Amino acid sequence: MRIIKNALQMQKIALGHVKNGDEIGLVPTMGALHEGHISLIAKSERNDDITIVSIFVNPTQFGSNEDYLKYPKTAKKDVEICKRNHVDYVFMPTVNDMFPADHKTFIEVEILQDVLCGKFRPNHFRGVVTAVVKLFNISCADRSYFGMKDFQQFKIIEKMTKDLNFKTKIIPCPIVREKSGLAISSRNSYLSVEERKASENISKILKEASEDFKIKDLNFIKESVLDKFKKIPESKLDYAEIVDFNDLSLADGNTRKVVFAVAIWIGRTRLIDNTVMIKQAKCR
Ligand code: PAF
Repeated sequence: MRIIKNALQMQKIALGHVKNGDEIGLVPTMGALHEGHISLIAKSERNDDITIVSIFVNPTQFGSNEDYLKYPKTAKKDVEICKRNHVDYVFMPTVNDMFPADHKTFIEVEILQDVLCGKFRPNHFRGVVTAVVKLFNISCADRSYFGMKDFQQFKIIEKMTKDLNFKTKIIPCPIVREKSGLAISSRNSYLSVEERKASENISKILKEASEDFKIKDLNFIKESVLDKFKKIPESKLDYAEIVDFNDLSLADGNTRKVVFAVAIWIGRTRLIDNTVMIKQAKCR
């Protein structure tokens, strides 16, 4: 496994692999690797000849009042995890290499970037998409792997690759959960013991909602879920929305495949989670 810290060098190496006819998989991360990332790496290992893991805490996707400076940094452990999981290259560029002071180009995915998390984190997805586009160009990726916990991010990246004719195929990967149901996230490391207990309610509430989805109407589900979220101790809800799986517009009674997406503060930690729900066709 090689660690590459320079974008130009990484791109040269990737182009060499393309020339050899190798298929390249990219797992873009901000480090603090966990079981969720390992599942993405495993998928790339199965599909691709070469697996590149990028580790870059991207300043352009954090708001000025967000956790950029305190985002967990565990580089040594991350490199070990990559080694153990047969990664070929770890790409760890500097901020100056990715976003030098004279960087002027940003990419936006209209509408999709403005709903759900976009309402609460202005410019977040513009930063994500721009970093991801750069990583696709640097890595020459044939496939790139994204966890479904960040469902809106996955949809936005998928749309961008289609709109801009990228060759990179976006591979969605299921949410990895702890035994308690809590979706695994690098930010879980911020939680105290009590906050972690409170956070375990999130997936329970979503699970109950998907049971209700089979028999109850959307308004009922939404109200009962809002009620339950409000009762989680030390919490503040950003949103709990039921949206169309395809375009993130608000779902109505006729939408067959929906996503129930939530963002909630537990103490000073913002967590997101979601569940996909599909309405069964009525038997005649
Ligand atoms: O999901 C993440 O870790 C980041 O948003 C990503 C995709 C690596 C872009 O910085």
